[in-house]
Amino acid sequence: MSTERKRNARLFDVDRSSVSSEGYSLDGKLDSQRHSDILQKRETLPVRKQKNEFLDVLKKNQVIILVGQTGSGKTTQIPQFVLEAVEVETSVKRPKMMVACTQPCPVAAVSASQRVAEEMNVIVGEEVGYSICFEDNISDKTVLKYLTDGMLLREAMAKPLLEMYRVIIIDEAHERTLATSVLFGYLKLVLGMRPDLKLVVMSATVEAKLQDYFDGAPLMKIYCVHHPVDIFYTMKPESDFLGATIRSVVEIHQREEPGDILAFLTRQEEIEEACHRISEEIGKLGNKVGPVEIVYLHSTLPPDMQQKIFEPAPPPLVEDGPPGRKIVVSTITAETSLSIDRIAYVIDPGVVEQKFYDSRVGVKFLMVSPVSRDRADMRASLAGRTVPGKCFRLYTERSYNQDRHAQTDPEILRSDLGSIVLILKKLEVPDLRHFMNLPAEEALTRALKELSDLGALDDKGNLTKLGNMMSKFPLDPQMAKMLVVSPGFNCSNEILSICAMLSGFDKVKARFVDTDGDYLTLLNVYNEFKRNKEDLSWCDTNFINYSVLKSAQNVRQHLVQCMSRCGIEMCRTYLYGPEYYDNISKAILAGYFMQVAHLECTGDYLTVKGNQYVHLHPSNFLGGKPEWVVYHEIVSTSMNFIRTAMDVRGEWLVDIAPPRYYLKNFPNSEAKQILELLEKWKEEQRKWEREESKNKRYVPRK
Ligand code: CDP
Ligand code: MG
Repeated sequence: MSTERKRNARLFDVDRSSVSSEGYSLDGKLDSQRHSDILQKRETLPVRKQKNEFLDVLKKNQVIILVGQTGSGKTTQIPQFVLEAVEVETSVKRPKMMVACTQPCPVAAVSASQRVAEEMNVIVGEEVGYSICFEDNISDKTVLKYLTDGMLLREAMAKPLLEMYRVIIIDEAHERTLATSVLFGYLKLVLGMRPDLKLVVMSATVEAKLQDYFDGAPLMKIYCVHHPVDIFYTMKPESDFLGATIRSVVEIHQREEPGDILAFLTRQEEIEEACHRISEEIGKLGNKVGPVEIVYLHSTLPPDMQQKIFEPAPPPLVEDGPPGRKIVVSTITAETSLSIDRIAYVIDPGVVEQKFYDSRVGVKFLMVSPVSRDRADMRASLAGRTVPGKCFRLYTERSYNQDRHAQTDPEILRSDLGSIVLILKKLEVPDLRHFMNLPAEEALTRALKELSDLGALDDKGNLTKLGNMMSKFPLDPQMAKMLVVSPGFNCSNEILSICAMLSGFDKVKARFVDTDGDYLTLLNVYNEFKRNKEDLSWCDTNFINYSVLKSAQNVRQHLVQCMSRCGIEMCRTYLYGPEYYDNISKAILAGYFMQVAHLECTGDYLTVKGNQYVHLHPSNFLGGKPEWVVYHEIVSTSMNFIRTAMDVRGEWLVDIAPPRYYLKNFPNSEAKQILELLEKWKEEQRKWEREESKNKRYVPRK
């Protein structure tokens, strides 16, 4: 293991001592008792009974579609079956070509690799490993790799035929993430070129279209016993989901038969608040009720915390006392990607927080919206996996039947396609419109236009040298550009830290200070953190989230490697020099010139992208209202706010964006008038400079 990998391993592996010090021997492997318990348990999984049938179908076909409800053992068992088959076929214990199994989110990839490593009694990172954005835990020994779907696409950029894999498993296909949808198209091309490659698509629901898509590939079903689930609705619509969820949990714990509870909420802060309040409320009931273990789950929870959701409920406090219960409060992560046993009660407020992208105006936003009927059914079915159960829907039956879509739109229909188009261009996928097969082409057209404005595509739509470099960074195209061009502004070191902070922030999905600062605050905090030798207590005293900074540091290290592979120069601007602020702002603007807003006389900001009137987020550190700002994102709550901003000068806009970009994209407004003047002035200046250089040429020598 390289030092880099060791460092990562320490940072992100399960700290086994914190999970359970019992059950492991000194080399980190399981002791024989715990291991045999695990093996015994896995024999009860429905998928085990169909192992031979599966292997038989796999042998005879290049593509298989496998459908089985959550908890049937697809994610943990199928890759092991496949591995055995490959080993038998190649008659070596350690085949060179690996098995890959994709997951829709990092948590699922890490959790699956941990469970399978336990079952195989090996250490994560050796025979079984994982690879997620900015972090991998694999070695030369790895034969089974769990990775996010996005990572598999990135791997294809380096090895377009994915020669390192013998079998690729696309798991949780029903989630229909953007990367999974694109992988289907891409793998279809690869399968045509590599007859030795096999593809297994696994899903919790029958996706009939997939069978057609893969030319009538066989569909195999896993038979599961399904326990009945009683569904309850509220009599009238509920507006306070959080309060209603908390009340329901407490009531179930007081009144219902033994069995664990799973409640769905939308955001991390909401989940943490719910856990806190449930614990308080149940605490007030004293010994009248059994003990509870309250755990929360969201997609970016560190692995050692996730493992808690698989632990059994606490035993009663006294013999024959009221039974203990485990209460899991989760985002949609628990819906299908992680299967939790012994859940008997599901509480479903019927809402979900999703990212949307309005391709007409090019604005991304996060919105809480009603869950579709198929998702609601999926949630309910979780109550009947191991015992008969109950599902409490915190909405009316009428709302279930009338206010909801039958299915959730696949992510590809509600996403900004910039990053994915950049990857597909790099993969030289011909005829993108045909390949993407979208009902509306608006999003694709916009993505192509934005990439060409950024300079990543030329007039013919081919990748430029800049675009080629940008595609190598696992960042959105704007951020990648800002990083790639930063040496031109003499500040790649500073921009690296800013990128790392923004991505680390995203990864941990937590607030990092009490207020969300601007770009420079992010940079200053990171620098101070390093100056204080990554001290935890320094973070505590300054109310700064330590895990965001550690994550940012890890992201930064990965980006440094990407930079050096691309041969991008590392340089820094002198901190106390007059250019420090200007250089950094200009580099940010070079990537984010599309996210600029102007302060109009009404006191609102007008954005160039989408032409919306927005406000500065109250938590900004800008000190006043600058005339021009470049911003990182818009959040819509009661109003549209721009968050993480920095002030810039009008004349830089004209210098840095493509010619006439703002004049073409701003509506008639003060912003446009000012820019027109600036453009004219710039033109004059250029003319003058040309004259000047001409005159210089003819100056007679004395
Ligand atoms: O993919 P699918 O939903 O069909 O099932 P799975 O993820 O393979 O999980 C099968 C079983 O493995 C679950 O019911 C859990 O009991 C167990 N499991 C676990 O204990 N710890 C994990 N990290 C993952 C799974
Ligand atoms: Mg699964």
